Amino acid sequence: MNATADVAVVGAGPIGLAVAWRCAQRGLRVTVYDPAPGSGASAVAAGMLAPVAEAYFGEVALTGLLVESAARWPRFAAELSTATGMSLGYRTEGTLVVALTGDDLAEAERLWTYQQRLGLPITPLRPAALREREPLLAPRARGGAYAPGDHQVDPRRLVAALRAALDRCGVPVVARHVDELSTIEAGTVVVAAGCGAGPLTGLPIRPVKGQVLRLRTPGGGAPGFRHVIRGYADGRHVYLVPRADGEVVVGATVEERGDRAVTAGAVLELLRAAADLIPEIAEYELVEARAALRPGTPDNAPALGRLPGRPGVVVATGHYRHGIVLTPVTAELIADLVATGAPDPALAPFAPERFGAREAVAQWS
Ligand code: GLY
Repeated sequence: MNATADVAVVGAGPIGLAVAWRCAQRGLRVTVYDPAPGSGASAVAAGMLAPVAEAYFGEVALTGLLVESAARWPRFAAELSTATGMSLGYRTEGTLVVALTGDDLAEAERLWTYQQRLGLPITPLRPAALREREPLLAPRARGGAYAPGDHQVDPRRLVAALRAALDRCGVPVVARHVDELSTIEAGTVVVAAGCGAGPLTGLPIRPVKGQVLRLRTPGGGAPGFRHVIRGYADGRHVYLVPRADGEVVVGATVEERGDRAVTAGAVLELLRAAADLIPEIAEYELVEARAALRPGTPDNAPALGRLPGRPGVVVATGHYRHGIVLTPVTAELIADLVATGAPDPALAPFAPERFGAREAVAQWS
């Protein structure tokens, strides 16, 4: 334990590591605690930076935060790559929404019409225009849309780069499980422990299981498609994220449960949907099938700010399906809060007190 730290960050996923990095850059002495850094949801996440294709009905405040964070990603990625000399696998080809059948098209169209009404950049494409962008798409795809600002990054590379950046700043990452915040000595404790933040803070964080597959191209070369594909395939939802190094991430289930078992049914459904959209991936090697737990809140938006009734405790958790895209804005707003004591107005919709008193939510969760 470092008794002299200004800031202790509990949790070494992308959010915790990035908060620590931004705090260190503001001249604060920081220590990070995690028994297994980078082993939570980010180890499984695909890394879609999709403020538009992931903008969902009724989540307007969250969509605003997603858009703001996505706008910060190019500078964040450039700064982190320059600081460490490491590639994050950040790619900017954009995302194609692809609908296989007429029913899929009706469902997808309903959502992108909503996204367009919010003023978000997404353009419908006819089947020929879709296949012009991605010739490997199944010829029977009925239509789709293009979200040029929905990019991607490799979360495993992101974690490795953030750890290297912290090394360079002299920030220790201590391999310790924190089960009680009162055991940590620091001016401010930032809880960025994903699903582990629930027991530590009393906030109503629920685990939402996601099963994700990783494929590799047979020869190890880049996949034959470059856009992130957000697919609707015979009523199934799937995404395919192609990496320059030959990896393709296929995800994900969204299950209201807290185990990490990989099931045959989920693998079958994900692969069937993915291969229906891009038949060539049936030839790729299946190299990994893993599940992780997303930290969800009652309104599926993160909890960012001071923990009510606990002076000196700040939370940055509950990022649910959006932890990677929300990393820059979370890190910068939370580091500003810690350094200045003044919350940015952008934090207001995400204040932890919206979930009620600590005792009440502890009973609820
Ligand atoms: N952001 C994608 C997912 O949670 O599956």
